[in-house]
Amino acid sequence: MRTLILAAAVAMAVSAGADAQTAYPSRPVTMVVPFAAGGPTDVVARLFAQNMSRTLGQQVVVENVAGAAGSLGVSRVARAAPDGHTLLMGHMGTQIANMILYDNLTYDSRTDLEPVSLVLNVSQVLVTKKAMPVDSFAQFADFLKRNQATISYATAGVGSGSHIGGMLVQSAIGVKNEMIGYRGTGPAMNDLVAGHVDWMADQITNAVPQIRAGTIRAIAVLGDRRNPSLPDVPTTAEAGMAGANSNIWHAVYGPKGMPAPVVEAVLKAVREALADETVKARLVDLGGDLPPAEAMGPAALRRHMDEELARWTPIIRSVAEKTTLQ
Ligand code: MLT
Repeated sequence: MRTLILAAAVAMAVSAGADAQTAYPSRPVTMVVPFAAGGPTDVVARLFAQNMSRTLGQQVVVENVAGAAGSLGVSRVARAAPDGHTLLMGHMGTQIANMILYDNLTYDSRTDLEPVSLVLNVSQVLVTKKAMPVDSFAQFADFLKRNQATISYATAGVGSGSHIGGMLVQSAIGVKNEMIGYRGTGPAMNDLVAGHVDWMADQITNAVPQIRAGTIRAIAVLGDRRNPSLPDVPTTAEAGMAGANSNIWHAVYGPKGMPAPVVEAVLKAVREALADETVKARLVDLGGDLPPAEAMGPAALRRHMDEELARWTPIIRSVAEKTTLQ
């Protein structure tokens, strides 16, 4: 009798998985971007979504759900049905920094989401409004020290990637500037170009077009490795600022409980996008670093999140207080 029950249970599980796989996707897929349109997360998500639509045979539609440093968008996905028709383009800020900084975060990125895969590593670059009279990190640091009462910097909210980068820069220089919060660094970049805010530590994928257009100043890439898209921009390490190796990695998730065949189908579509020459060329041209094959997939992403949480907790705790989501 027990064998019969076991066989029935196995058959049901296999058919459920098979149903999920054959039926998925049965309608357009929503990819939630937890920041405003026009920012780096949005740009990356739209590049993937367009290509994934072809592989999945259904439109992958990007939906911007901004606010509270991306946590509103992540919560939206965590609460969605785990059927693969709602996905998240998250990043180091939403998946790691928010976990460390907020004492009332509405999700746990390790237990409320199903990891699919890392999709891109993204360095940050320190940029200023054109009118700031500085040409090097040393001049920037000196300018901030002499004018710190009036200087403002842009972020996408406490816990966002631009907030982490901004905290690292201020901590290294020993200043505390006024933080101007935006719903994403897309709108923040508009204000920087207009000169309404003084500086920002933004993802290179967002800053490169404006740097190339000459509308903002590039001071330094955060970290110890120059970026091929900005070969003439020195690093903070070259300027003597150690330890600013921020990588705002991006990764795709679904709601917890997404069936394995659906995770596999989404992973396949992500891999196909990363194998597409047009997508690869665009991501690299914007300064993105494509992840190595061994870094792809759910297990590798779980390991990466554990490593990142362990790495960033002491660093973030040393430069920022825990805070409460409003
Ligand atoms: C964005 O897409 O607007 C950025 O990822 C926000 C941030 O994390 O700085």
